[in-house]
Amino acid sequence: MTGPRKLFVKSYGCQMNVYDSHRMADTLAPEGYVETATADDADLVILNTCHIREKAAEKVYSELGRLRVMKETAATQGRDVKIAVAGCVAQAEGDEIVRRAPTVDLVVGPQSYHRLPEMLNRAASGKVIETEFPADDKFNHLPPPSKAATRKRGVSAFITVQEGCDKFCTFCVVPYTRGSEISRPVDKIVAEAERLADAGVREITLIGQNVNAYHGDDVDGRPSTLGRLLHRLAEIPGVARLRYTTSHPRDMDTSLIAAHRDLPALMPQLHLPVQSGSDRMLEAMNRRHTRADYLRVAEQLRAARPDVAFSSDFIVGFPGESDEDFEDTMRLVAEVDFVAAYTFKYSPRAGTPAAEMEQVSEAVKDERLQRLQHDIERRQTAFLTRCQGGTFDVLFDRTARRPGQISGRSPYLQTVQVMAPISLIGEVVPVKITDVGRNTLFGALADPLANLPRQADHIQIETLGA
Ligand code: 5AD
Ligand code: SF4
Repeated sequence: MTGPRKLFVKSYGCQMNVYDSHRMADTLAPEGYVETATADDADLVILNTCHIREKAAEKVYSELGRLRVMKETAATQGRDVKIAVAGCVAQAEGDEIVRRAPTVDLVVGPQSYHRLPEMLNRAASGKVIETEFPADDKFNHLPPPSKAATRKRGVSAFITVQEGCDKFCTFCVVPYTRGSEISRPVDKIVAEAERLADAGVREITLIGQNVNAYHGDDVDGRPSTLGRLLHRLAEIPGVARLRYTTSHPRDMDTSLIAAHRDLPALMPQLHLPVQSGSDRMLEAMNRRHTRADYLRVAEQLRAARPDVAFSSDFIVGFPGESDEDFEDTMRLVAEVDFVAAYTFKYSPRAGTPAAEMEQVSEAVKDERLQRLQHDIERRQTAFLTRCQGGTFDVLFDRTARRPGQISGRSPYLQTVQVMAPISLIGEVVPVKITDVGRNTLFGALADPLANLPRQADHIQIETLGA
């Protein structure tokens, strides 16, 4: 008798890929695959790849080089290891991957994950490549995770509500790799959220390439909005926190701004990519909004939720970016006072309009990136320092390194460490911040007595630990 087959999935890139990796594992669980923590003892390795910048795509090929050696070593020991490439590199490059890395057995695009079991069968007798955009909705075919699998993944979970993008920013491959926008219907999302909450999940992050363009069918058959969907999800017992990512400034409609005003569960931390603070660059990027539009949206959100903090994505060295354009970006950062950001050097991607435009030198890109990063880091530290002395709700999600200490997240996604019983993991508890580290806050339960374990099984954990 053979034991269970082992699966190792490695995710690159965005949260969407993390979610998809879980769903691939869920799809393969009924086939007898169990997840393992390293590629070394796996029978099937899936690289869930990212194609957004050149570096991200190249990482995949160097990983495939390492896996080839591993696969050959396993073969000398009589073990047959299969290697699959999934995600956006799979979608964009298809059979080119097998030509460049013949060690790869399967190439599977993001719309075809539900076909994995059948593809694996076919892979026994040759390479299998599947990068179509099938008309049917893959979500209807992907099995939901088991309660045990959900528990293992922790108190915080993602739900994909929307996929693809119709915006065609001139630098971006997403509209080509992930295709045009589709939204899942409200009832399916609510059912998934209820299942998660039932398995102990307390925080749900709705994800999509363009999540606030969400327009899935509501129960009355009419298109919903992200704001309405958030209102509905906030009603589910057990769901303490809601987040969503990633948004486009143009799709920040009144229902979403109202959700920020009306829903305490909607966290006051918003990732709202702007890319540049220069109107000239925003136009060349085809972002379809101006710097003033962005500032107006930020202002409306601050009026709705005064404690909101913004993070963003920036690209420096977009074709044609002058010193003055870059200074506009630095000024916008100061005006909005972003507390975190992902900053990127523009990376030309074949097939996108900007790749054909006049490029900025690497040296200039490096210098601008450094200046921007330095400024953002300063703001991040200043924000952490401002948290000292304050009291925040913390969702505890794990034990910390020091004995007796547990760790959680503030509403702003900062890590917070506290001396507290492990029975509080999975609970949202007010914490007074007493100390600030480089990237971490330290605190004490604001009201230790009020947070004594409430249930008999919690007390049991305490006595067992004593
Ligand atoms: N070059 C650099 N950064 C890019 N991004 C997307 N495409 C490119 C590119 N060609 C960045 C944008 C986007 C984030 C996910 O990746 O900032 O918001
Ligand atoms: Fe890419 Fe622009 Fe679509 Fe975002 S909105 S996924 S940056 S094309």
